[in-house]
Amino acid sequence: MNQNDLLFYGEYAPRLEEIKSLVLSEIGAILGSLGSDSETAVAEHIKCRIKGCDSLKEKLRRKGHEETAESGLINVSDIVGARVVTHFIGDIYTVYDLIKQCPRWRVVRVKDYIANIKPNGYRSLHLNVALPFGVGGIDEIRAEIQLRTIAMDCWASLEHQLKYKKNVKNTALIVEELKRCADEMASTDLSMQTIRDLIMRG
Ligand code: GTP
Ligand code: MG
Repeated sequence: MNQNDLLFYGEYAPRLEEIKSLVLSEIGAILGSLGSDSETAVAEHIKCRIKGCDSLKEKLRRKGHEETAESGLINVSDIVGARVVTHFIGDIYTVYDLIKQCPRWRVVRVKDYIANIKPNGYRSLHLNVALPFGVGGIDEIRAEIQLRTIAMDCWASLEHQLKYKKNVKNTALIVEELKRCADEMASTDLSMQTIRDLIMRG
């Protein structure tokens, strides 16, 4: 957390850092239980972050809530956010099953943007988990865990990058082209899964 975030989160900052470490270590343990050498590792990488205060305030403003740390902890479900990037599609659901069984949190909401692709082509499995908090009368907070393949992550990252470019003309064409890229990458994901299944079957 930078100085601005520390000031904004105040008494909640240390506990948020603890929750972030806990989420990372639990996910690490889950992934470790599936195998950690280069042939068995399901995750290509994992990230975990605490939402910066500017981004949180913007989200609170957009949703019509008070722009305070308390309000954020109550109303925003991704102040702590983790992303697990897997090699194959099947790995996403393997990790999901283990996340559901983890006693440290309760899965409270699932958004499956792989089964229900967003109109722009975005794919990922989003899980909201509730964790005990216990600071200043806030008993519980939510964290968001996003699960996606390398290909889904690649698309999301490039699309995110492009969204910030100014003066983009031919918007309809660009939206259509981005959707086509997402679909092509998803098709490659399926082929890669099939190839892996063939290899695993021996
Ligand atoms: P808001 O964050 O208020 O929009 O609602 P929400 O938290 O319910 O949204 P959701 O869980 O559906 O998705 C939020 C996060 O998913 C974002 O912060 C991104 O990380 C990712 N995401 C969702 N849709 C897109 C998309 O179209 N493109 C990219 N690049 N990322 C997306
Ligand atoms: Mg969300």
